[in-house]
Amino acid sequence: MKSFKILTFGCQMNEHDSEKLAGLLKAEGYRESERLEDAGLVLLNTCSIREKAEQKFYSALGKLRELKELNPSIKIAVSGCIAQQEGNAVLRRAPYVDVLFGNQNIGNLPALLKEGADMRVSTEFAEGYEHAVIPASRESVVTSFVNIMYGCDNFCSYCVVPFTRGRERSRRPEDIIREIEELVNSGCREVTLLGQNVNSYGIITPPSPSYLKRGTEGALLKNIGERYCDFPELLRMINAIDGLLRIRFVTSHPKDLSDSLIDAMATLPKVCNAIHLPLQSASDSVLARMNRKYTFADYMNKLGALRDAVPDLAVSTDIIAGFPGETEDDFQATLLALENIRCDGIFAFKYSRRPNTAALKLSGHLPESAKDERLYKILELQDRIMQEKINARVGMVEEVLAEGPDKSGEPGRLAGKTRQGKIVNFEGKPELVGQLMQVKIIEGKKHSLIGELTCRPDRSGVTHI
Ligand code: SAH
Ligand code: SF4
Ligand code: F3S
Repeated sequence: MKSFKILTFGCQMNEHDSEKLAGLLKAEGYRESERLEDAGLVLLNTCSIREKAEQKFYSALGKLRELKELNPSIKIAVSGCIAQQEGNAVLRRAPYVDVLFGNQNIGNLPALLKEGADMRVSTEFAEGYEHAVIPASRESVVTSFVNIMYGCDNFCSYCVVPFTRGRERSRRPEDIIREIEELVNSGCREVTLLGQNVNSYGIITPPSPSYLKRGTEGALLKNIGERYCDFPELLRMINAIDGLLRIRFVTSHPKDLSDSLIDAMATLPKVCNAIHLPLQSASDSVLARMNRKYTFADYMNKLGALRDAVPDLAVSTDIIAGFPGETEDDFQATLLALENIRCDGIFAFKYSRRPNTAALKLSGHLPESAKDERLYKILELQDRIMQEKINARVGMVEEVLAEGPDKSGEPGRLAGKTRQGKIVNFEGKPELVGQLMQVKIIEGKKHSLIGELTCRPDRSGVTHI
C-alpha cells in the first residue's frame, strides 16, 4: 500500500494545509506512516517567515537525500511558502525533489503524483482557489482549524507572507458555515478561524479579466468594493451554529480591530475571551518603517477598549527584536510596553532579512549579537510575566473544554483549554472529551495548568456548579 509522511513547518495555516494534504492523500489510497523511514512519499510543507525556518527545511531536505540514496523509490514532495516563493530554484538546488507545488495548488497534488504525470511543478496562480473545498484529515476531532480567508495585502516591510500566500481572498460565508456545521456533526466543539488578517474578512474578489469569457467583463465591476459580510457578522453566524461551543480566531491586525468586533467579542457567548494582537514594536518610528499603519497609542487605545468590554481577556502578541534602525530607546519602549500590557503569551523573534521585502533596503541593520541580546531581554521579561499570569489562575474554577488525553501520556488524565486558551491537565475519563467541564486550578506549571474536576457535566454537556 502507498504510504506518506508529512513534515510541517510554520504557522497554523500550514498545519491546516497539511491536514488537507493528508485528506487528499488518504482519498487516493495512501496510508499515513508513523515513521519517516517507512513512508513511500515524504512531503515537506515549508515555511519561509524567517531565515531559520528556511534553514530547517534545507537541513530536513539534506536528510531526505541520504534516505533516498539508500532507497531510490522514495518520492519527495515540497509544498508551502518556500515552494511558492522559490519554485524551480528549489529543484535546481535539490534535483532529487520529485514534486513541488505552491499554496494555491494543494488540490493538484494527486495529479502531480500520478504515474507518468507530465508536470512536476505547480506554483501558478489558481483563479477561485479560495472556494475549493478540500476534505481535511484533521489531527483533532474536538477542535478544528477553519480557513476563512487566504493571503495578505498588508505588506508589512519585513514580511514574506504577501509574496508566499498572494493577495487577500475571502471564502464565502455559506461555505464556511457549511464546513463548520459538518465538523460539528462529526464531534467538533471548538473552531479556530484562520486568516492572516481576519478583521478585514469579507471582501469579494472578482475574477481576473483573463479568466472571464469575452463580453462578461461587466461582471468584473459588479462586485468591486463589495463584501460578503464583515468579520463580526461572520462571527454572529457561526455563534448561531447549534452544538458548537467555542470560537477562536487568528490573527487580528490592530489597524483593523473595529468597535463592532469588540462588541461581537463582548456579546457573543461562544467567542472566547482571548485575542492574538501582534504589536511588533512600541516605537512609532519603528512601526512606521514596518508599515504597520498604527501607532503605539492606537494599539493601546484599542486594547484598552477591548479589555473594558471583555472581562478577563487573555492577550498574546508578536514582537520583532532588532528591526533595522531600532535604537536603544525604541527597544526600551517595547520592554516597557510589555511590562504594562502583561501578555499571556508572546511570540518574539529577532528580525530576519527576507527576500523581496521592503525592509531589506532600510538603513541601520543591526548585528546579530545586538538582535540576540534584545530578544533575550524580551523573553526573560516575558517569562516572568507569563509565570505570574499562570500562577494567578491557581484557586480559580475555570470552564475547560476537554480535548483529548494528556499529551504526556499519563494514563487517566485529560488535556483541555480554558476559555482564555490556557492548557489544563486534569484527571478524567475519556468519555468527557468534547464536553465543557468546570475545573479547579490547583497548580501552575511553566506553560500550563494542573486542575481537578469540580463535578460531572450535565446531559447538555455543560457543567453547572
Ligand atoms: N499575519 C500575522 C502574522 C504572520 S507572521 C500578523 O500580521 O500578525 C507571524 C509573525 O512573524 C509576525 O507577527 C512577526 O512578528 C514575525 N515575522 C514576520 N516576518 C519576520 C521577519 N522577517 N523577521 C522576524 N520576524 C518576523
Ligand atoms: Fe505579514 Fe503583515 Fe500580512 Fe501579517 S499583516 S502576514 S505580518 S504582511
Ligand atoms: Fe505561515 Fe510560514 Fe507561510 S508562518 S504563512 S508558513 S511563511
